[in-house]
Amino acid sequence: MRVKFVAGNWKMNGDRAANEALLTALVPALSALSGIESVVCPPFVYLQQVKSLLGGTKTALGAQDLCQFGNGAYTGGVSAAMLRDAGCSHVIVGHSERRALFGETDDLVAEKFAVARGNGLVPVLCVGETLAERESGTTESVVDRQLQAVLQRCGISAFRGAVLAYEPVWAIGTGKTATPEQAQAVHAFIRSRLAGADAKVAAEVRIVYGGSVKAANAAQLFAMADIDGGLIGGAALVAEEFAAICRAAAQKH
Ligand code: PGA
Repeated sequence: MRVKFVAGNWKMNGDRAANEALLTALVPALSALSGIESVVCPPFVYLQQVKSLLGGTKTALGAQDLCQFGNGAYTGGVSAAMLRDAGCSHVIVGHSERRALFGETDDLVAEKFAVARGNGLVPVLCVGETLAERESGTTESVVDRQLQAVLQRCGISAFRGAVLAYEPVWAIGTGKTATPEQAQAVHAFIRSRLAGADAKVAAEVRIVYGGSVKAANAAQLFAMADIDGGLIGGAALVAEEFAAICRAAAQKH
């Protein structure tokens, strides 16, 4: 039985006052839950503030990205070692916004995945197709290409304990959620591709869904056999919504 995983991706949102208000409401709600793993991923500059607001709770701290290089002359970069030092245990890698807006290639994403693993961070690897790709029937080949880039560089053993996030680009921030059946089909495909390399790793790895998840649709998504939780954007900025999504994940399915 895989423990459900729910991560809140704040994206480039928040300020010190809003973060404090959000966490003050969220921490007691999340502390009351058991049987799930929860993570919040604020912007880099707020990692330490959020770490102290989380205090000793079980909710973990994650970053939204990392630099592929180690410490040194890389202006503007934030290294995996710095993320560890700031208290992060997780890092999102290859989010579709990084791929589309910041030019991250499959190879760069694979490199970042490797660096995260090498520094003891749990990568949350995002894959997913655009609307045009879905409509042209290439969803599986796109997701597979993104997955194979990481598998080829890092090997299947690097997926042990990692998290995958299937995030169809057309569902992100659009209010258009994939149906549970649509998401399940891609999750099962991803797991089958991993099983081709190692059946045990594939059976154990968490594959979470992201794209307009909210309290109202979370339980149906999380009830699907291969959907092991969610990567939550907009709804992660509203304490009651995020708490309700985490409660849905904590239910027995
Ligand atoms: P959304 O974003 O929940 O706002 O659609 C999800 C994500 O991009 O991780």
